[in-house]
Amino acid sequence: MPGCLVISGLQWGDEGKGKVTDLLSGDADLAVRFQGGANAGHTVVVAGRRVVLHLIPSGILNPSCRCLVGPAVVVDPETLVQEIASLRTLGVSVSPDRLLLSPRANLVLPWHRRLDQLREAHRTSGRIGTTGRGIGPAYEDLYGRTGVRLVDLKNPDRLAARITEMLPERNALIRHHGGDPLDRDEVLAPCLAAAEFLGPFIRPIEEELTRALDQGRRVLLETAQGTLLDVLHGTWPFVTSSLTLAPAAFPLLGIGIPASFGVLGVVKAYTTRVGEGPFPSEDHGPLGQALRDRGQEYGSTTGRPRRCGLLDLPSLRHAVRANGVTALAVTKMDVLSGLAPTIPVVRAWQLGGQTLDVLAPEAQDAPDLAPVHEEWPLWEGSLEGVRRWEDLPSGAATFLERLAAALAVPLVLVSTGPGRESTCLLADPWR
Ligand code: GDP
Ligand code: IMO
Ligand code: MG
Repeated sequence: MPGCLVISGLQWGDEGKGKVTDLLSGDADLAVRFQGGANAGHTVVVAGRRVVLHLIPSGILNPSCRCLVGPAVVVDPETLVQEIASLRTLGVSVSPDRLLLSPRANLVLPWHRRLDQLREAHRTSGRIGTTGRGIGPAYEDLYGRTGVRLVDLKNPDRLAARITEMLPERNALIRHHGGDPLDRDEVLAPCLAAAEFLGPFIRPIEEELTRALDQGRRVLLETAQGTLLDVLHGTWPFVTSSLTLAPAAFPLLGIGIPASFGVLGVVKAYTTRVGEGPFPSEDHGPLGQALRDRGQEYGSTTGRPRRCGLLDLPSLRHAVRANGVTALAVTKMDVLSGLAPTIPVVRAWQLGGQTLDVLAPEAQDAPDLAPVHEEWPLWEGSLEGVRRWEDLPSGAATFLERLAAALAVPLVLVSTGPGRESTCLLADPWR
């Protein structure tokens, strides 16, 4: 039985990973973020209360679950302080006992945000549509070996020296993009302010993580973004700057690959994308609009309207393969209830005279890509409150069976609403 479960998004993010992680953290010992930063927006709805998490793992609302932030997460200290403070105002206990931040994690600094936003604003073509959270520039500094890390917050002299050393080069870039240069204090002061607050949370995570895994405790690894946003295996260059695939969790966390682990692939019952880039099954007509309205498809981080479209089985097969998905969670089924008698689903793509059952990311914007549709019946009646497979309308059950069969992965969880309770758990996902 795997003591380790990676929650992985199989589309372009926003599949409902936060909801699934929160639900499963009820009997998990640890929930861990291993990549990305505050570009993520993971929504958890508990007792009608909506909480959006950006940097803290979505297990934080379950008091028995401890939360770790790994070294490959890029941490915006100001955002993190605000996130902890707003959770505390909701009565959630966020103490250094429950939340550990890896000292090796790189910081997102004001110059990263400024450069991200300037580059996006000044690109006439090829805009990525980033979240503006400084993610790309922060990862450039990590891999360029010029970043500042959380551990540096514990040593103000070293922190000041590093910022002083880096500032002129960063300001030259900012000026190159037509922006206003930053003062040293604009960068240093927020770091120093956050340093005192965050200090007690900054502690190595590897020992706790490996101990939990060795003892067979339940560890959830919560991915941010989704497969098609992976910097190598997504729709490059319209991607984020981190590895988002489930197996990347282990090297990114600095632990060995466990003898057994599961990968729970989270799929929205249709497809959405926020930002620019190819999206061949996008629907620009009334169906796309209806999905956006009914699914409340507006970004959890930026509020931007999400682009909406059809379920794309060949892209999902790429995601299943790339992540090594062992079980499936399907979310937002309620959005499809009564939408229409049937909905088209992309069964295959035709390209260059070939029929493709698996769509590689680089083929996503091929000009002659043509969908092979299949009409899947929908169902009448609300899914609200449905918590057992037997209580699903038969049309919904058939839809889910077809999806699981098309991806050849067992279905273990169906989400029928944003709330924690609106879930059918069909099998133990830890098995
Ligand atoms: P994440 O980034 O993968 O965690 O997903 P987001 O939180 O960005 O976006 C998912 C949105 O759908 C959030 O507003 C959730 O509250 C909501 N949601 C999740 N599951 C369901 C569901 O089954 N039905 C409905 N109607 N909303 C859901
Ligand atoms: P969660 O974890 C959806 C998208 C941005 C943009 C691209 C690059 O909530 O699923 P970045 O700011 O990372 O440089 O932007 O990636 N993007 C997301 N889209 N959900 C996310 O996270 C995303 N994080 C980044 O919209 O297209
Ligand atoms: Mg999101």
